[in-house]
Amino acid sequence: MASITIRNLDEATKQLLRERAAHNGRSMEEEVRHLLRDSTQAPVSFPAEPAAASGSPEIFDPLELDGKRILLIITGGIAAYKCLDLIRRLRERGASVRPVMTEGARAFITPLVVGALANDKVFLELFSREDEQDVGHIRLARECDLVLVAPATADFIAKMALGLANDLASTIVLASNRPLLVAPAMNPIMWAAPALQRNMQQLRADGVHVIGPMRGEMAESGEAGTGRMAEPLDIVAAVRGLLAGTPGTIKGPLAGKRAIVTSGPTHEPIDPVRYIANRSSGKQGHAIAAALAALGAQVTLVSGPVTIADPAGVTTLHVETAREMLDAVEQLLPTDIAVMVAAVADWRASGAAGEKIKKKPGKAPPPLQLTENPDILKTVGHHAKRPALVVGFAAETQNLIDNARGKLQRKGADWIVANDVSPAKGVMGGDRNHVRIVSRSGVEDWPEMDKTSVAARLAQKIADRFETTEV
Ligand code: C5P
Repeated sequence: MASITIRNLDEATKQLLRERAAHNGRSMEEEVRHLLRDSTQAPVSFPAEPAAASGSPEIFDPLELDGKRILLIITGGIAAYKCLDLIRRLRERGASVRPVMTEGARAFITPLVVGALANDKVFLELFSREDEQDVGHIRLARECDLVLVAPATADFIAKMALGLANDLASTIVLASNRPLLVAPAMNPIMWAAPALQRNMQQLRADGVHVIGPMRGEMAESGEAGTGRMAEPLDIVAAVRGLLAGTPGTIKGPLAGKRAIVTSGPTHEPIDPVRYIANRSSGKQGHAIAAALAALGAQVTLVSGPVTIADPAGVTTLHVETAREMLDAVEQLLPTDIAVMVAAVADWRASGAAGEKIKKKPGKAPPPLQLTENPDILKTVGHHAKRPALVVGFAAETQNLIDNARGKLQRKGADWIVANDVSPAKGVMGGDRNHVRIVSRSGVEDWPEMDKTSVAARLAQKIADRFETTEV
């Protein structure tokens, strides 16, 4: 019988165990016993935990990934610790997880913990006689339904973009003909670096699916920005979506149609640390992008700063300001469909300060001068390359239908989806929505439903419109 001494585990694993044990109110020894027991019993059951960033409740079908084989490549970032939860989430839904770890990954978490959670051998070396005899890198690359790289470091992304094959993980990626999903995680400055963004463009052009990274606090103290790995439950949702049918290749009613969707708020800087924003969560816009993709459209989502995951099967461009959003949208034209859901800030601070504005004792607060932002919907609605169908949103707190009719006219839209965002309705940031579709032919009042249902119904209405008329 083997025994594990917690004292002998590496520091990163011990810290992780400490956090998990504290979270679950157990001693570290009890936590290890739970981890090992849970990983060796199938189907696995776990205590309830807080929902993921997307707010999804912890209710799932234990067979939703039944029999699916996920090859999980863990590369060397601090977010590697989240993989332990990811493995658990995949397995509790019926998937098997075969882990591959790069040398860097082993600096953050140990193969012992990964193997225990995955209940499988952890593959480490390209030139290991034992590993090659067991399975071999070509079989590893093929004997799976999906290859998932989480976390994907800047270095590994660069290797993938170049097609390098100098360790087991990169060789598998190159040798695989399975859908490939990567979850980047890195420092925000690395994520924004032109070289990294070039590599990401290459991966997308090569058909690699990307989830995240997200905005928020980084594991390193004091660091924040875009770079956090997507939450495990959101990665699981992306895996499920990809295995259900690779989006973009779906032969749905919108196959062959290109769509742009804008989503989320914009952030308009006042100085390097302050900005003007609004309460938009991006939930409705992201759901619409996913719903259009599910009907076969090739969708580019232009998202302002949000904390929810990029939808799977959709190319997501991340922007901060209204002007960046307009630039991104104009570069994507012409398309067949544009659905402008973003809550774009109407104004920005005139001449944002280059340095943080200091509070001066005894002096009046600095004045805030505002300049009008470009209206993206209006620009698209009157564009020389206007999409055949332009849909706008109208978030109003009064005179909903009259205001929506005015926008239809002024902005050159075909439909306006009007919703009441009075605080009592809880629409902004919430999960449900009650919308009216305002067009030149009248108003459709849809019942209140969750935002994914609104998205599915709107996508179907768009598909119907393309089927029945020459738009
Ligand atoms: O004028 P209002 O902001 O209410 O219009 C809402 C609609 O216009 C939404 O579809 C929103 O995405 C779009 N919009 C825009 N650019 C702006 C303001 C709003 O695209 N600057």
